[in-house]
Amino acid sequence: MSEPLVPPVPEHVAIIMDGNGRWANARGLTRTMGHRKGVEAVRDAVRAAGRLGIRYLTLYAFSSENWRRPETEINDLLGLLKLFIRRDLAELHNENVRIRIIGDRTGLRGDILPLLLEAEETTRNNSGLTLVIAFNYGSRDEITRAVVSLAKDVEEGLLSADRITADLISSRLDTAGIPDPDLIIRTSGEERLSNFLLWQAAYSELVFIPEFWPDFTEALLVEALKKFAMRNRRFGALAEPGKMAGT
Ligand code: IPE
Ligand code: IPE
Ligand code: MG
Repeated sequence: MSEPLVPPVPEHVAIIMDGNGRWANARGLTRTMGHRKGVEAVRDAVRAAGRLGIRYLTLYAFSSENWRRPETEINDLLGLLKLFIRRDLAELHNENVRIRIIGDRTGLRGDILPLLLEAEETTRNNSGLTLVIAFNYGSRDEITRAVVSLAKDVEEGLLSADRITADLISSRLDTAGIPDPDLIIRTSGEERLSNFLLWQAAYSELVFIPEFWPDFTEALLVEALKKFAMRNRRFGALAEPGKMAGT
């Protein structure tokens, strides 16, 4: 059940889903079990976001640095992502969810890339919630790829360097066409971005919550949205009339 919300509901919420391993560890379970439970929390979060009227939900599923983990854990995480798409794609499509994938698509092994492309392709004309899955994603990698693509255009004489603007850079990022996140939530008590949406987070509100990702619920999402609604976003300008400066 969703409680009535204090407007405005953010257009774009991004979540760093952290703490699967610690959730499992606290229960004497394997990390794999934590990741499995984490997928259930993903399902709930996607539904809740749709119900609450959020337009874009970005989920950090696998970072470009997560390849540093043991091979068995990497296989678990990739396996779960594939299973999620295989099992849930039809239902998400039915619910009018549009899927976008961000992250480096080159050099991915096995059948993961075709599945990701299928998810995007199947849902491309849907008009409901946009679910952005950050897979093999790291901001520095994303920005580097954008810079290389701009440099190539300059090298080939297609672009003059003094025409490069912040908007042009944004349009070369994986998130092209997606508004910047209004709110970034990180679970598990860690207070860092871990290479997530660094460019796009320039004016995002950050909410850190102590619960581990498998324990994430609609009620916790609503709580974070309420915190967001209390914030006074200034974007470098002055406080809105009626809101106290410094809040
Ligand atoms: C988040 O949980 C899932 C991914 C990073 C893919 P973790 O696996 O990071 O869990 P902790 O942080 O070790 O508890
Ligand atoms: C961030 O979590 C990446 C994802 C949630 C996919 P990590 O667990 O990888 O981040 P660090 O290593 O604690 O910074
Ligand atoms: Mg972690």
